[in-house]
Amino acid sequence: MSEFEKKLFEFKEKIKVAKNLSELTKISSEIFGKNGIINLEFKKLGSLSPDERKNFAANINSSKKELSELFSKKSNEVLDKEIIEKVNKEKIDITLPEKDFEIGKVHPVSQVIDEISCIFSEIGFSVEEGPDVENEYNNFTALNTPENHPAKDMHDTFYLDQDMKTLLRTHTSPVQVRTMLKGRPPFKIIAPGRTYRSDSDQTHTPMFHQLEGLHIDKDINMGHLKGCLNYFIKAFFEVEKIKMRFRPSHFPFTEPSAEVDIGYRIENNKIIIGEGDKWLEILGCGMVHPNVLKNCKVDPNKFQGFAFGIGIDRLAMLKYGINDLRSFFECDYRWLNHYGFDPLDVPTNYRGLSR
Ligand code: PHE
Repeated sequence: MSEFEKKLFEFKEKIKVAKNLSELTKISSEIFGKNGIINLEFKKLGSLSPDERKNFAANINSSKKELSELFSKKSNEVLDKEIIEKVNKEKIDITLPEKDFEIGKVHPVSQVIDEISCIFSEIGFSVEEGPDVENEYNNFTALNTPENHPAKDMHDTFYLDQDMKTLLRTHTSPVQVRTMLKGRPPFKIIAPGRTYRSDSDQTHTPMFHQLEGLHIDKDINMGHLKGCLNYFIKAFFEVEKIKMRFRPSHFPFTEPSAEVDIGYRIENNKIIIGEGDKWLEILGCGMVHPNVLKNCKVDPNKFQGFAFGIGIDRLAMLKYGINDLRSFFECDYRWLNHYGFDPLDVPTNYRGLSR
């Protein structure tokens, strides 16, 4: 057996036992590479006679062909095996249940804001926003609040500077001012958001939520205000009929002003909204004062309208039977799990607000 034949035999064995692609790549260069056994054998041709050359070359070529076939067959096998192994290893079983997966809940206040926005968007109100940190002018002066008004007292308002020029807004009414100053009438907006007053007990927290409403146009009157609020309360509590009363009140920025109460009764420790002989205050409202319109560059001889401010937390407590306002802001995960909403249960007018 010639040296070359020995090598051929050795390499056939090597190919047979090769386990992976990297071993095969190495073997391939040892056989077919520049200094591989095939090339080295071809180099011997030069020292042979023309007659001998023919046989010798034919012999190398057939060995080369044999090795190539063996090699590519083995490569395919190894490749298939590696692919199958890889696929098996990387396989994700999508039927497996998640481990330690806890679904988050939407806070009742967020849910109620979404519900209210839905109801008002249905009748043409768009949503505006204003900052929590306001200036004194937007929060009080532009809203026709006199210098000595009790609301401006340090006991009620959180001021952020010595001069009492910057503060945490005490209501969402400054968004009325911002909206009117940046646009042109008519205006038909609601503005939900956080508000702050220095107060704390079972029904008051230093931070709470309000929703402002403002509708300014040429012929808007108190009847529109009543109709709008009546529609809203019924839609919000998802009832056909509602007992509602407008009580005369006072706000510097509306004239006339009213507070709205809704009727309720208690049955088996539960509040039944809309009927009964008890009253609960839920919002303040009125016709926007001409001075406010003037301060906001709106001509009170051409335009008029109504505004209202609803306590969102209170509505959430009533609708979802939560009796301590402070629990809203304690960040107790167990509480949220109980009172919170499924994130995919988005309130809509057509599918129903709450289910
Ligand atoms: N801003 C008033 C409050 O916080 C509510 C209100 C808003 C009243 C708009 C009238 C008009 O009590």
